[in-house]
Amino acid sequence: MILIIDFGSQVTQLIARRIRELSVYCEIIPWDADILHNKSISEAKALILSGGPDSTRVKKSPTISKRIFDLNIPILGICYGHQLICKLLGGKISKSEKREFGKTMIRRNSKNQSLFLKDLFKNNIEEVWMSHGDAVTELPEGFVELASSATSSFSIIGDAARRVFGVQFHPEVFHTVNGKKFLENFVNIANINRNWTPVKITESLIEKLKNEIGDERVICGLSGGVDSTVTALLLHRAIKNSLTCIFVDNGLLRKHEANQIEFLFKKHFKIKLKVVKAKNLFLQNLKGVSNPEKKRKIIGKLFINVFEREAKKLRNISFLAQGTLYPDVIESTSVHGKSAATIKSHHNVGGLPKKMNLKLVEPLKTLFKDEVRKIGSELNLDKTFLDRHPFPGPGLAIRCPGEITEKKLSLLREADNIFLEQLRRHKLYNNVWQALVILLPVKSVGVMGDARTHEYSCVLRAVSSTDGMTADFSYFKREFLSETSNRIINEVKGINRVLFDITSKPPGTIEWE
Ligand code: XMP
Repeated sequence: MILIIDFGSQVTQLIARRIRELSVYCEIIPWDADILHNKSISEAKALILSGGPDSTRVKKSPTISKRIFDLNIPILGICYGHQLICKLLGGKISKSEKREFGKTMIRRNSKNQSLFLKDLFKNNIEEVWMSHGDAVTELPEGFVELASSATSSFSIIGDAARRVFGVQFHPEVFHTVNGKKFLENFVNIANINRNWTPVKITESLIEKLKNEIGDERVICGLSGGVDSTVTALLLHRAIKNSLTCIFVDNGLLRKHEANQIEFLFKKHFKIKLKVVKAKNLFLQNLKGVSNPEKKRKIIGKLFINVFEREAKKLRNISFLAQGTLYPDVIESTSVHGKSAATIKSHHNVGGLPKKMNLKLVEPLKTLFKDEVRKIGSELNLDKTFLDRHPFPGPGLAIRCPGEITEKKLSLLREADNIFLEQLRRHKLYNNVWQALVILLPVKSVGVMGDARTHEYSCVLRAVSSTDGMTADFSYFKREFLSETSNRIINEVKGINRVLFDITSKPPGTIEWE
């Protein structure tokens, strides 16, 4: 595997995505994790040092032991990582006279035939994405310049003998046109087997679960989404009858959700499932609460209370399994506790109470959604289920800004059902990453059948995305929007106005709360 050392860049996890797209397993580890004594280092066949917001010229800036160069494995430094390699090996870093941000053209140093540049620089140039204020101004011994930009030398450097390379730009971001090829060349130089395939991932996750859980018993919280379903299927393969799934009908679900889950688990997969009816518990606790973070925390805590209560009833349960994904972890608390800022407390991570009686098991914690879908397919999960849009743990509560009432939830549930039905009917469902309706706490005046109405408004939101970390709003034809709006207003008594959300992420988030 490749070990990625994180110096706090916002896009570190994109490096991981790109490497895994090359069918190579990788892990991210924070720069201050005592890397040389970490278990992962013994398995690492190469290192990548990420970018970061600091300057290597500042005294206490993040750094790493020079002994990583004695490991004799290939190392690639990106941006901050590139500068750090130079600093550690005796090169010089200075403040750039001209900062480079965004699209930049770099030119190959034609004399060098480095494998790192194989099949790149077709016309001697590459379009890359830069974001730096410091630059390398003197190379360490053994390094040569492989490419430079108009304003800066050493855009790519390499020491072929030691297999150490540095790039000032970000090959992991979409805007570096051939970014993935640079990473592929590095993987080839490191001579790493590209065997991180869905079959392999599935086998290794099942093996890991067997070891982690042993003879103990597990409950798995289902949300109705792909992630918790795949978690349950993996557990079922690993520990069979020691698993009981719990589905909490909390009154915040979409239409037909509870029935579909019951059918899938009990009838189709024949996995032990307990459906807990807890609508009143959730709605009573959410009464009068309109702060989004408070809602999330209350829901997270109630879920755990219900799970713990059920675990007690079932006796001898040691683990609670959840379908937490890598982006959930990063956006909530950051996997490693440091770099990323808290945006929202996703209920299955940040919303958990500090003290819990059950141990957590989260087999998908380092995986991305596309990887989870591939594993699901490996585990015979039906395509229509696999392609379901993500649905957040806190459910309709976070699509109902302001105080939640049963009446509002029921309006939202109906409108949501119509929007999804419409997307399926027009064969648009699979064109979007996620589609949702938000019920606004705003009433507006309308006129229907010559009479005045004063009813709620709702928002249609649909986005395209590959992992939920960034998203662009989707666009539909006027006919589709008009038919959907008509259906909602005609069929949902209580909504008289429909709006369409044209906000991307960032600056918005996908859910409204
Ligand atoms: P945001 O709103 O943060 O959402 O842009 C990104 C993706 O995550 C889903 N989401 C959640 N999933 N528990 C989950 O399991 C949560 O608390 C949660 N909050 C948001 C959201 O639906 C989108 O796909």
